[in-house]
Amino acid sequence: MQLSGLTTAVTGGASGLGLATAQRLVAAGGQVTIIDLPSSAGEQVAADLGDAARFVAADVTDSEQFAAALDAAGESGPLRGLVHCAGAGRRLRVLDKDGEPGSLEDFEWVMKLNVTGSFNALRLGAARMARNEAVDGERGAIVLTASVAAFEGQIGQLPYTASKAAIVGMTLNAARDLASKAIRVCTIAPGIMDTPLLARLRDDVRASLEASVPNPPRLGNTAEFALLAGQILENGYLNGETIRLDGAIRMAPR
Ligand SMILES: NC(=O)c1ccc[n+]([C@@H]2O[C@H](COP(=O)([O-])OP(=O)(O)OC[C@H]3O[C@@H](n4cnc5c(N)ncnc54)[C@H](O)[C@@H]3O)[C@@H](O)[C@H]2O)c1
Repeated sequence: MQLSGLTTAVTGGASGLGLATAQRLVAAGGQVTIIDLPSSAGEQVAADLGDAARFVAADVTDSEQFAAALDAAGESGPLRGLVHCAGAGRRLRVLDKDGEPGSLEDFEWVMKLNVTGSFNALRLGAARMARNEAVDGERGAIVLTASVAAFEGQIGQLPYTASKAAIVGMTLNAARDLASKAIRVCTIAPGIMDTPLLARLRDDVRASLEASVPNPPRLGNTAEFALLAGQILENGYLNGETIRLDGAIRMAPR
């Protein structure tokens, strides 16, 4: 698919990786709908991006809100791209420091946001794309966001790891399910990216994180995520794969 003129929805598009993706897609000549929480900076971000961008508030775990937001995205043209960046984690161990069982509530919160949210992106996005006329044999493409934690979960990350591993697991399955509709599915598994969260770290902590990346020895740029998300939308032969974007980092236990 060509990015110029492409109608794409970007969840979590008000911040970090999603924001960089929205910026890239607009710069490439696409129409972008940012789907994010009402409390996010989505309205301002969309205004800054200009006429080719709009913001629709929705919680990706709420099927009705998410479906309505995707319908709104489809008003700018047939929805052919969906980049799903909305996600988060909560720190949790199997046992807490007093030996008590880790919080089931926190586990379920993370699973709902990251796993249910991703399945919602797949099912609600694909239902709309399936109605598109195929262009060059394609009706659409969906990009999910996992994490290297899916492969090397660190201490304190258990629910996040479980949820991101589930997203990796869904990727090939969803690509197979949607093959007959000519819709592709790929996942990006970022390493340590330079997002607003990490901007708040102390300099020495940041330097040690940078030193843990083999090459290049620095954090990933949000623009590098956006470049890959754009490439997945563009490249019709990328399908069913999770791509690590991580400077060859392999996370240590802590
Ligand atoms: N930043 C990193 O280093 C890194 C590394 C690996 C994976 N990731 C993953 O990348 C994705 C984006 O991370 P980021 O660093 O850009 O985060 P971020 O916090 O900067 O942005 C996430 C956005 O998602 C939105 N959001 C959260 N819950 C939502 C919901 N229920 N419905 C709609 N929107 C919701 C937030 O409002 C926010 O704008 C996440 O899935 C995260 O797990 C990030």
